[in-house]
Amino acid sequence: MECNNTMHSARLDFPVKTLHGRVLLPEGSELTEETLKALVSAHPSSVLKTHPLMEHGSVEKDIFSLFDRPPYDIVFARSDGVSEIVNTMKTVRFAAPVLDALDYFKSQDAPTYHHMLTIFALTILIARDLVPNYRRRVSEIVCGPTHDFGKICVPLEILKKQQPLTREELDQLKHHTIAGFVLLTYYFGDSKSLAAIVARDHHERMNGSGYPNGIRQQDLMVEIVAVCDIYDALISPRPYRRKSYDNRTALEVLTVMAQKGEIGWRVVKALIAHNRASKPGCHEAVVSVEKRGTPPPDNCYGKLSDG
Ligand SMILES: [Fe+2]
Ligand SMILES: [Fe+2]
Repeated sequence: MECNNTMHSARLDFPVKTLHGRVLLPEGSELTEETLKALVSAHPSSVLKTHPLMEHGSVEKDIFSLFDRPPYDIVFARSDGVSEIVNTMKTVRFAAPVLDALDYFKSQDAPTYHHMLTIFALTILIARDLVPNYRRRVSEIVCGPTHDFGKICVPLEILKKQQPLTREELDQLKHHTIAGFVLLTYYFGDSKSLAAIVARDHHERMNGSGYPNGIRQQDLMVEIVAVCDIYDALISPRPYRRKSYDNRTALEVLTVMAQKGEIGWRVVKALIAHNRASKPGCHEAVVSVEKRGTPPPDNCYGKLSDG
């Protein structure tokens, strides 16, 4: 599995700020190798002290309640898998800024908090199936909770807006990818950590149709996070639509995206396999391309108020 570490020099349209409002890079900064080197050398060693994620606040309880909720009760229904995932999660430690961001979302934007924890558990489940040398790589694989870290730079009014976004608001929302990359580079002192790359690239697509750089995404771990991210976004409450997608329709959306070459079949198949009560192997799951689902009504996603 190769990591896509390509650095795309880009000009920031919005500032990158810490949760406490300190500007790390102002709007207009060029994101060059030199900028990243300066960020890494300014990296705050005082925050290196880490704490177990599962012992933080109500994280463990919230993850267990996720396992009880459809469709995740089926997805995670395999006792050996769940106990291994929980044990893996118990090894994860994060520095204070990551845990502070979880607390921030828990109090200000609960769906984003639950989404972060869900992606944490779900990406471990799928990585167990697909990533070669999974056990040796597990410490870098557990990057789920930080994929949307950059959303601390997006105003809550935008994250929680129920009407279509303006073009400017959409650009500000998309900024969470680069912002997450910059922030995690700074906090982890490494622009090539998988967590920073996942934060930057989880909205990129395999055929180059994603953002922020429109690259042809090829890294397996980024792909796992990207597909889990779309799946959870479809089946969970979101401010921009009254109802979530039902599970069948969500899996159909992923199937169509794989047919278009936007995301990879391997991850879609693994998710479908975990959705089957019979639990076929991730390579044996049969994908139905028959369209039976109905997308929810009144969905503002992708619609612009001025576009
Ligand atoms: Fe995201
Ligand atoms: Fe996400």
